[in-house]
Amino acid sequence: MDTIIKTAGQKEDEEIYKIASEILHRGGLVAFPTETVYGLGADALNENAAKKIYAAKGRPSDNPLIVHIGDFQAVEHLAAEISENARRLMEAFWPGPMTLVMKKKPLVPSGVTGGLDTVAIRMPSHPTAQKLIRASGLFIAAPSANLSGRPSPTRAAHVIQDLDGKIDMIIRDDTVSVGIESTIIDVSTDCIQVLRPGWITLDMIRAVTGTAELDPAIAGERELVGQPKAPGMKYKHYAPRAALKIVEGSVPAVTAYINEEADRLLLEGKKVGIMATDETASAYRTGIVRSLGSRKDEESIARHLYACLREYDDLGAEVIFSESFSGEKAGQAIMNRLMKAAGHCIIKL
Ligand code: TXA
Ligand code: MG
Repeated sequence: MDTIIKTAGQKEDEEIYKIASEILHRGGLVAFPTETVYGLGADALNENAAKKIYAAKGRPSDNPLIVHIGDFQAVEHLAAEISENARRLMEAFWPGPMTLVMKKKPLVPSGVTGGLDTVAIRMPSHPTAQKLIRASGLFIAAPSANLSGRPSPTRAAHVIQDLDGKIDMIIRDDTVSVGIESTIIDVSTDCIQVLRPGWITLDMIRAVTGTAELDPAIAGERELVGQPKAPGMKYKHYAPRAALKIVEGSVPAVTAYINEEADRLLLEGKKVGIMATDETASAYRTGIVRSLGSRKDEESIARHLYACLREYDDLGAEVIFSESFSGEKAGQAIMNRLMKAAGHCIIKL
């Protein structure tokens, strides 16, 4: 299939949303930017359209999709129960990078929820995403717009790389600001649980709801205990083609270790990538060094993480070393994604 690629934010915008709407209404697939990552959208109430998402991504069918909405009223259509805490969280963080898991109404096809009796709902803040939802008048089911197992796309070029020829349309608007996927919070029971860490942190959630916990399978992630509740969290995700190793320890120890290992691998003829920070980049003497930004600016680290992993793939890196990040605030989400990309390979010095 020929994929239509259009750039939003220009004069003919109305036309873009009209074409995209038509595609969605006839059960097609449209990739669009959100503030977190690009999503691959389909009509959430059309089970056949949802099936196409799974086929295009090569995604396991037990991994449910997030339904994107444009206004608060939509929740009443989709969710069977809305707790007081759910309402407070919506007020506090929507539109924005937060997904709520709630008991679903029968209207939501089980092909969208992976057979679960809950549905994940998010109201994105990105203007292009909002315009698409409004123009179509639909609820839009959208996973990240990458091939299953690849890093999530933060630029249209990433979507093109993975899905060109497999989907109907890509709306280009490279103003994705957060760079990692939304925080997923299960509010379907009295025990509020974070199923996937993200930009909205546990502390921010607790400030609104009083109590909230991390899914123990995520909290104990370094040891990998139990089955995570968000089905998608059990897969090796966000994986670059290279072997990614996270190195944790004091700055001098980490830079010394990585330098030594990089020298050894380069002698073996291997291509080596080093994911560094502004504070450390100049301490590395070999390999392909990229800074994700300053350690003081977690926003920048999150925004550049996936693009950096993809760049190493494009450059043919065979081994990538990454520094580790603190488990505080958004650092927790960054480490969560890095650990998954690394298949939990962490070297503690
Ligand atoms: O930021 C985001 O959330 C992006 C943008 C496009 O909105 N979307 C995204 O979708 O990351 P995806 O499909 O890559 O990740 C959805 C995650 C998966 O881990 C899935 O298992 C979980 O949400 N999920 C969806 N519905 C669920 C449910 N009913 N219960 C538990 N987990 C659910
Ligand atoms: Mg994804």
